[in-house]
Amino acid sequence: MPEPEDTVDAHSGGDAPTGPSDLMDKVVGLCKRRGFIFQSAEIYGGFRSTYDYGPLGVNLLRNVKNAWWDAMVQRRDDVVGLDAAILSPPAVWEASGHLANFSDPLVDCRNCHQRWREDKIGGVCPACGSTQFTEARAFNLMFKTHAGPIEDEGAVAYLRPETAQGMFINFANVLQTTRKRPPFGIAQVGKSFRNEITPQNFVFRTREFEQMEMEYFVPPAEAQHWFEYWLDERYRWYLGLGIPESQLRLRHHDADELSHYSTGTADVEFLFPWGWDELEGIANRTDFDLKAHATASGERLEYFDQTSGERYVPYVIEPAAGATRTMMAFLLAAYSEDEVGGEARTVLRLHPRLAPYQVGVLPLSKKETLEPTAREVLALLQPHFMCDYDVTQSIGKRYRRQDEVGTPWCVTIDFDSLEDRAVTVRDRDSTDQVRVPVDGLAAELRRRLDGA
Ligand code: GAP
Repeated sequence: MPEPEDTVDAHSGGDAPTGPSDLMDKVVGLCKRRGFIFQSAEIYGGFRSTYDYGPLGVNLLRNVKNAWWDAMVQRRDDVVGLDAAILSPPAVWEASGHLANFSDPLVDCRNCHQRWREDKIGGVCPACGSTQFTEARAFNLMFKTHAGPIEDEGAVAYLRPETAQGMFINFANVLQTTRKRPPFGIAQVGKSFRNEITPQNFVFRTREFEQMEMEYFVPPAEAQHWFEYWLDERYRWYLGLGIPESQLRLRHHDADELSHYSTGTADVEFLFPWGWDELEGIANRTDFDLKAHATASGERLEYFDQTSGERYVPYVIEPAAGATRTMMAFLLAAYSEDEVGGEARTVLRLHPRLAPYQVGVLPLSKKETLEPTAREVLALLQPHFMCDYDVTQSIGKRYRRQDEVGTPWCVTIDFDSLEDRAVTVRDRDSTDQVRVPVDGLAAELRRRLDGA
């Protein structure tokens, strides 16, 4: 049997670290130390506000996106997927209003010359306290580039600042090929780019990030109903994946906060270490986008109901979430410290569907006699779960390492396993250990995952 562990101290369902900045430092430190997130181009001194997702981060991020896709596409018959191009011509952004409106008010401090977003600083320079600024000027957030070898105006292209426009410009294609009728949605997950003036708070606001967006096309008269429906659905998605209710809220925008296309928006907010902030915006975009693209392109972007003979431009309800930002919220919510057998441990209480590894496969010792059975168990589990295989250090230390990255179950192969064809399954949160026959192992772990 693996080394025994005392159960988790009764008081410690997972204490949060002592203070907010402390939590942030710990999570950022863990991300780097264990290979979740690295500063991009670190060997060249780092490239500000860009990050690379390491071996564990890429799994976690992928699981976040898969969980979204599962809820928004796979389990619905009214939503289909799309993966549109990142590079797009100016006409798209002209019509969408982004060339004219997608800008932040930029000011320079006259004293220390730092550059800020005027709407974020309340008239006082956060660096030096001065209240003297240059006039605000609009700074467009889109990244501009050139397609092809000639860098002239005719070759201008933009990196998309949101995935949403891909759904609008493909509305007619999707309608024709899928024969969907409103209410129906088009969903997309992918990279977006914004030349943010003040990227900050780790991966909360970066210049390159991933979004998970869905455009839900509805008869105009039903727009308010579906707006409320999606508020509720999206709020519950975060709860279901382990964000505690005390750290999640819905906040309706005031009229002066609304985007240029929206008549109603509410944000799903998470209690970050610096306060409540946005994870996702759910907006009633009306028929703004389809009408704008129809006018600019000359194409008909509307729905013709053959039974009623009615022709109309659908309204759009848009739940728009950030994948990278949401991943960070899951990490912050999951981080906790407790004690096992009188020893401090760090544990990421990630939902098992999100954890970078679902299973750690740990032969009790490095002795060669254990390896064939351990590898057999690994091969048995790999088609079903993302597994880590670790033979280094004592079993206690390996459990701690798996706890720290959120692995919900460890499977230990010991010398008895060679005789009884059973292994020990150890649970991350309770540290309970039970013996499970190898033959029923995948089914047992699947049962636990489905029940989580
Ligand atoms: N299509 C609507 C739209 O893009 P948004 O509120 O600007 O709306 C949606 O963006 C989500 O994308 C945000 O709630 C946030 O999670 C994420 N997001 C936006 N800008 C971001 C940035 N610079 N870095 C990381 N995530 C960002």
